[in-house]
Amino acid sequence: MKRPLLQIALDHLDLNSALKTTELLAPEIDVLEAGTILCYAEGMRAVEHIRRNHPDHLIVADLKAADAGSVLADMVFSRGASWMTVICCAPYPTMEQALKTARAYQGDIQIELYGDWTFRQAQRWLDIGITQAIYHRGRDDQAAGKGWDQEDLDKIQKLSEMGFAVSVTGGLVPKDLAQFNHLPVQCFIAGRSLYGAPDPIRAAAEFRTAIEQEWPKQYE
Ligand code: 5RP
Ligand code: MG
Repeated sequence: MKRPLLQIALDHLDLNSALKTTELLAPEIDVLEAGTILCYAEGMRAVEHIRRNHPDHLIVADLKAADAGSVLADMVFSRGASWMTVICCAPYPTMEQALKTARAYQGDIQIELYGDWTFRQAQRWLDIGITQAIYHRGRDDQAAGKGWDQEDLDKIQKLSEMGFAVSVTGGLVPKDLAQFNHLPVQCFIAGRSLYGAPDPIRAAAEFRTAIEQEWPKQYE
């Protein structure tokens, strides 16, 4: 099992602020995400500029695509994305088209899990060839009081056992990570608690320390 990676979600409202964050934090981070909010605010130039400034990083375009899988995938992968997200309620042909285009660029698709979905659907995603999922506690769910509970952990475990590489996100702070330490998490994705921290470098270091402590040497 590999040690989880650290991904930053750049959910800024403007590209300059996002690029200032990546300039500061990229050396501490494994995966850079052009966040949904940033992509809405700035369009595809967000992906393009992040790739230009960080040629060696994995870059995610968090579009949460729901339709036009091939068109949207072409937009992000032609600008240098490594992975693109598709929302779990998207039709299967959207997922298939997105994956086909992703593969043409040596990229990959991640299914973004929100709201209601079933393990039967998850099996279908695997059958299509999708192997990455993002387990998400939504911003609005969090604001409405949703924490992390046993049901979340059980679902992540089951998805992993089915064969998904599962990333985890949604208002994470370093102390949250310990509860996932029995799970083979692919990436922990954090946004506000990194770029919005009083000292973002220190916040990134705290995430790294939590990962190293909870997934010790045998996970390297
Ligand atoms: C929201 C997202 C965010 O990028 C993700 O939740 C991480 O951000 P934060 O740590 O600020 O919650 O995709 O839909
Ligand atoms: Mg995101």
